[in-house]
Amino acid sequence: MENASKSPLANEPLLRIEGVSKIYDGHIKAVDQVTLNVASGEIFALLGGSGCGKSTLLRMLAGFETPSQGRIYLGGTDITELPAYQRPINMMFQSYALFPHLSVSDNIAFGLRRDGMAKEAIAERVEAMLKLVQLSQYAKRKPHQLSGGQQQRVALARSIAKQPKLLLLDEPLGALDKKLRVSTQIELVNIIEEVGVTCVLVTHDQEEAMTMATRMAVMSAGSFLQVGSPKAIYQQPNSRQVADFIGSVNIFDGPVKENHTNYVLVQCADALLRVPHSQPCQDGMGVGVAIRPEKMALSRKKPSAKVNHVAGVVVEMAYFGAHTSYHVKLASGKVLQVQVQSHADEDNADLCWGDQVYASWADNAMVLLTQ
Ligand SMILES: Nc1ncnc2c1ncn2[C@@H]1O[C@H](COP(=O)(O)OP(=O)(O)OP(=O)(O)O)[C@@H](O)[C@H]1O
Ligand SMILES: [Mg+2]
Repeated sequence: MENASKSPLANEPLLRIEGVSKIYDGHIKAVDQVTLNVASGEIFALLGGSGCGKSTLLRMLAGFETPSQGRIYLGGTDITELPAYQRPINMMFQSYALFPHLSVSDNIAFGLRRDGMAKEAIAERVEAMLKLVQLSQYAKRKPHQLSGGQQQRVALARSIAKQPKLLLLDEPLGALDKKLRVSTQIELVNIIEEVGVTCVLVTHDQEEAMTMATRMAVMSAGSFLQVGSPKAIYQQPNSRQVADFIGSVNIFDGPVKENHTNYVLVQCADALLRVPHSQPCQDGMGVGVAIRPEKMALSRKKPSAKVNHVAGVVVEMAYFGAHTSYHVKLASGKVLQVQVQSHADEDNADLCWGDQVYASWADNAMVLLTQ
């Protein structure tokens, strides 16, 4: 048999989290029944608002907290009870404290020395790490003589110097200002990919998760709301909460008016929407229809179709160079966000405050939200 020769662990993910919960003081459910597989080489992001349990989950992976329930496996081995220092895992904290009195080199060498690694081997490893994070010429400087982004790279070099199997990053860029954050996100991903280390990172910044992660989980109140690629979560949110949390979105509400094999008709205050949908819905059931602002088009002309457009008045507009952002007020009082690319389109050229417009969109721009 073909399968018999394969190791039982052949398809084992690097990290397997099974029904893990953390309950503090007998009643605070910080993490609630989380199950997740992370494959080798993935960069997995935990995304969610403050207090949703991101750091607690990461701390359990690192071994700084013990789960109240559930098991954690690394490469097929149960590590739930294994002390932190015995795990081939390294964690970079929310505020990555570098040792201020040590040079960049000594900061990177710190963990290796503590492990009793040979002197020459340490020197070699430190040099390789410095090269990796492009700080070779800063080896002798102290942390305070570096920029925020450079300090962040030293912290990363220190975290991967011991060649962990799993790297945990808690808000790795939290200490940087917005502009530096964006450029450092890409550098960080390049370094992580070059080393090939599997990574679980925590962030409350959705753009950061989308930029850096191969897959992500949106968390709320200790649970996962949705797990998937950034693209899948952005384009196919499974609930109102996820749609709202990831980027801007317009949500129309209304009851299901007609239920068909491939679509439902939803009667909203401002329009009748024909939404592609293959799962059966109950007639009269209240649903939401989500549409991203960049998926909408604006025109002064009334679209010919009977469904999937609304009429309104431009109440606000802002020019951003590559696109223009409009607020369009509908008869119900609802205000739509519409984002239009800045190539001159005759139908919407020179749209102005107070103009009467129609917003329309393609069928596949809509996502039906039943919860
Ligand atoms: N040691 C503790 N004892 C009691 N409650 C705790 C403890 N640590 C965390 N909590 C609670 O558990 C919940 C989750 O905390 P956690 O630090 O995991 O959130 P987080 O998602 O990392 O938030 P942030 O984005 O603010 O860092 C919070 O309600 C927090 O108050
Ligand atoms: Mg945290």
